[in-house]
Amino acid sequence: MKKSNIKLDEFDEKYLKNLDDHKKILLTEKGIYHTILRDNEKIGIVGYIPAKSPDHSGFVQIVITPKHRGEGIVEVAENLLAQKYNLKILYATIEKTNVTSIRAHQKIGFTALDNKKLTDLKEKGLLKGSEVRLEKTYIQNYDKNKNLS
Ligand SMILES: CC(C)(COP(=O)(O)OP(=O)(O)OC[C@H]1O[C@@H](n2cnc3c(N)ncnc32)[C@H](O)[C@@H]1OP(=O)(O)O)[C@@H](O)C(=O)NCCC(=O)NCCS
Repeated sequence: MKKSNIKLDEFDEKYLKNLDDHKKILLTEKGIYHTILRDNEKIGIVGYIPAKSPDHSGFVQIVITPKHRGEGIVEVAENLLAQKYNLKILYATIEKTNVTSIRAHQKIGFTALDNKKLTDLKEKGLLKGSEVRLEKTYIQNYDKNKNLS
């Protein structure tokens, strides 16, 4: 797929609400969301809810329009998001029954937290028994301005 024609644009909430499966993502005040555009066509929504720690991490939220699923857009959109916000880690909290999303995220480098961490989160009430948490580390150029002064 040609990737350079995919862009993150201003969030269009009305468009999201009309998308199938929009309830699979969390829309919160703290979240930062974008409409995904390909050749100026809206093809989905991607965003993240910043995590308390570590810095530069967050919970990814994504819905692709049904017509364009299976085209690898998830990877391009999440990479663009991570780049734009200099994200170091993206977490994905996914219902265990949402096998498509779990596999799609594993395919692009997300891995499930180990069982100890998952149990810990569940005990603290931060993860439901019906959910799984995956994570992906991104390498970004964080310190590019550090030595310029
Ligand atoms: C999960 C989701 C974001 C994946 O995005 P995507 O850009 O379609 O991901 P991919 O192109 O890598 O395809 C992933 C898998 O979807 C499946 N798929 C392929 N074509 C499809 C289609 N037309 N419709 C639905 N699923 C399809 C395939 O299993 C594919 O895996 P494969 O390429 O190894 O066969 C997308 O399916 C989606 O928007 N789902 C509904 C919302 C959701 O669940 N969001 C995640 C919440 S955590």
